[in-house]
Amino acid sequence: MFSSNHETTNPITLGEAIERCCKELETSDAFFGHGTDNAWDEAVQLVLAVARLPANSGQEVLQSELRSEQQAELRALLHRRIHEQLPLPYLLGRAWFAGLEFLCDQRAIVPRSPLAELILNGFQPWYFGPEPRRILDLCCGGGCIGLAVAHYYPNCQVDLVDIDRDALALSHDNRERLDLGEGRVRIIQSDGFADLDNTRYDIILTNPPYVDALELESMPREYHAEPALALASGADGLDLTRSILASALDFLSETGLLIGEVGHSWRNLERRYPTVPFTWVECEGGGEGVFVMSAEELQKYSDCWQD
Ligand SMILES: C[S@@+](CC[C@H](N)C(=O)[O-])C[C@H]1O[C@@H](n2cnc3c(N)ncnc32)[C@H](O)[C@@H]1O
Repeated sequence: MFSSNHETTNPITLGEAIERCCKELETSDAFFGHGTDNAWDEAVQLVLAVARLPANSGQEVLQSELRSEQQAELRALLHRRIHEQLPLPYLLGRAWFAGLEFLCDQRAIVPRSPLAELILNGFQPWYFGPEPRRILDLCCGGGCIGLAVAHYYPNCQVDLVDIDRDALALSHDNRERLDLGEGRVRIIQSDGFADLDNTRYDIILTNPPYVDALELESMPREYHAEPALALASGADGLDLTRSILASALDFLSETGLLIGEVGHSWRNLERRYPTVPFTWVECEGGGEGVFVMSAEELQKYSDCWQD
């Protein structure tokens, strides 16, 4: 067994460590839903992290030896992952999103939004306006979406907004880590749009809390390590999304686009607004419930949002 003391002193390669780690994860109650969806990928991340190797290391590292103190660190992390069922990014203190490394801790949810794909695709084929100059990340958490936008769109002014001070503090840390200046990236505390100035955005990206009350209760333990404010949003999971739909038009340019994520709650959203033909984005990397809605559509269905 990987966890026996005896093995501490035996030399073992990274490849062997990954296999043993994977086996232990597979036979545990650990749930994989925070940036990985299987035991093998988590084992690779864990072993590379304790070996202080980059996450995108190639096969050539598999034969390197894991030193005994690194084995001890691995055992300790694996123990916490399995017995405390903490998401791996919280244990490692970092997470990857849109090809960038972010600081990650329990001040905010673990980054995993499929919106990364749209950022990397230049918001195509959904955004038809002029080159975007102002983009809003509403419900920014630790800042992954807005900061990735700022990184990949150097001509853009980006605002990051969240209601939670802790999440905003992590956004500040990540802004500094990615060397994105205050001049171009503002970090603002606001309840939805309530405390924003009258800026009009070309694109509003939002990954609000959207888990419905029933689903929240039955979620694996890993999710309960995340801030409740980041997951729950009323009985049908759509309290905040409804208020975003009702106000987004006032904060979009004429050719602006709202891009929102509602995960499994997409069915509730369709039920709530049966006359609105939502456009759902198919994400190649998986993930469901991403919709796009132009300013024109928000205007067209404005009566629906007021119900
Ligand atoms: C699902 S998390 C998304 C975090 C981040 N954008 C990401 O993708 O990892 C939702 C975020 O919405 C924030 N939030 C909840 N209610 C809010 C509100 N009324 N106004 C602004 N932000 C809110 C939470 O604090 C949390 O950080």
